[in-house]
Amino acid sequence: MKDELKYLTGFDNEFSSEDERCPGALPIGQNNPQKCPYGLYAEQLSGTSFTAPRSRNKRSWLYRIKPSVVHEPFLPIDRPSNLDYKWDAATPTPNQLRWKPFEVPGRQAAEIDFVDGLHTICGAGEFRGRRGVAVHVYLCNASMKDKAVCNSDGDFLLVPQLGALLITTEFGKIRCEPNEICVIQQGMRFNVAVFGPSRGYILEVFDDHFQLPELGPIGANGLANPRDFQTPVAWYEDRRIDYKIVCKYHGKLFAAKQDHSPFDVVAWHGNYVPYKYDLDKFMVVNTVSFDHCDPSIFTVLTCPSAKPGTAAADFVIFPPRWSVQEHTFRPPYYHRNCMSEFMGLIKGQYEAKEENFQPGGASLHSIMTPHGPDARCFETASNSELKPERVADGTQAFMFETSYSLAVTEWAANRSDKLDRDYYKCWQPLEKRFVRNANPR
Ligand SMILES: [Fe+2]
Repeated sequence: MKDELKYLTGFDNEFSSEDERCPGALPIGQNNPQKCPYGLYAEQLSGTSFTAPRSRNKRSWLYRIKPSVVHEPFLPIDRPSNLDYKWDAATPTPNQLRWKPFEVPGRQAAEIDFVDGLHTICGAGEFRGRRGVAVHVYLCNASMKDKAVCNSDGDFLLVPQLGALLITTEFGKIRCEPNEICVIQQGMRFNVAVFGPSRGYILEVFDDHFQLPELGPIGANGLANPRDFQTPVAWYEDRRIDYKIVCKYHGKLFAAKQDHSPFDVVAWHGNYVPYKYDLDKFMVVNTVSFDHCDPSIFTVLTCPSAKPGTAAADFVIFPPRWSVQEHTFRPPYYHRNCMSEFMGLIKGQYEAKEENFQPGGASLHSIMTPHGPDARCFETASNSELKPERVADGTQAFMFETSYSLAVTEWAANRSDKLDRDYYKCWQPLEKRFVRNANPR
């Protein structure tokens, strides 16, 4: 379905927006007038410390019908949840891990919404010290009804794989389809509506916010271009209704009641906003002579850590492109990495694994865990004619790459029943090819 919502475009812009039903709702010349237009309340949402350098400082001003503080106390939600930050629950393993597609509740199944359908796969670090990441999947079949959620611990990068999402935020509405991503930053309240069984991946970061990677010698243009990011326009509803606000705080879910919709922001301005991006708009860069650039050239967004040049997490894609290298083994090379690599597949078939890495499934190659093309891929690529060819058409594989050493949750290791115990077998047929004194030239 075509996305007919309006958006503002750009990354890191100073945006401003007001709902067209209330022209003049945005105060001019100051943030906090004695009386705001239309009797609105002014509220600031800070995304960085007040004193962060100007180039990194993020905040937005919201002009709303009621300030967000008008709610009853938050109480813990004591229902069992698969949202899980207990990194010591499952026994660690340095093995290569792969999961079959995670089960989505069907149309006839009991209703599960986005929040109830959150399942944590792996992660590291913690929210109190604001260092770490978590990887989740959402598996749901129902829209959130008069319910909003907000993450006080970090930012969510959503990667829908099955089914479109209509995400209502305090800043307006975003429609996000598979092959698009959406970032909802810390503290932003949002509601997710779905249109049937829905599945997707989530990268959660605690360290910082996502930014565009530096381009260095690539120059001023390329990879994900700022103009292709889309931020919603102001939209409000004025409803007196029993509304539930769910807050994720210290990794636990809490709920509070209030008597009105939280989506009552009539106008806003600022640079701390939710946004979406269409992965087809990524401008791919790679070698045009021989060998490989490192996969960092495929970075869409990066969340920096305190260590220079080292990401807390990168969001990386392997999009459709031309492959033209001469005298080169073209699929990804065998490697061991000082970073953890979590991969998922939105659609199609990943180029380095010809079998059993399926859309809606995942793999995890942990720090220093060796991996690379399976035996069949190696055999094919070692003997194929090296003419220019399209690769990855009709597919979209992605990677969450992190400098943290990830622990797998008990659900992902056991209860999900999706861990592929035979994954290691895809490399076993790789034969010894060494012939002493043979000269390959
Ligand atoms: Fe890798």
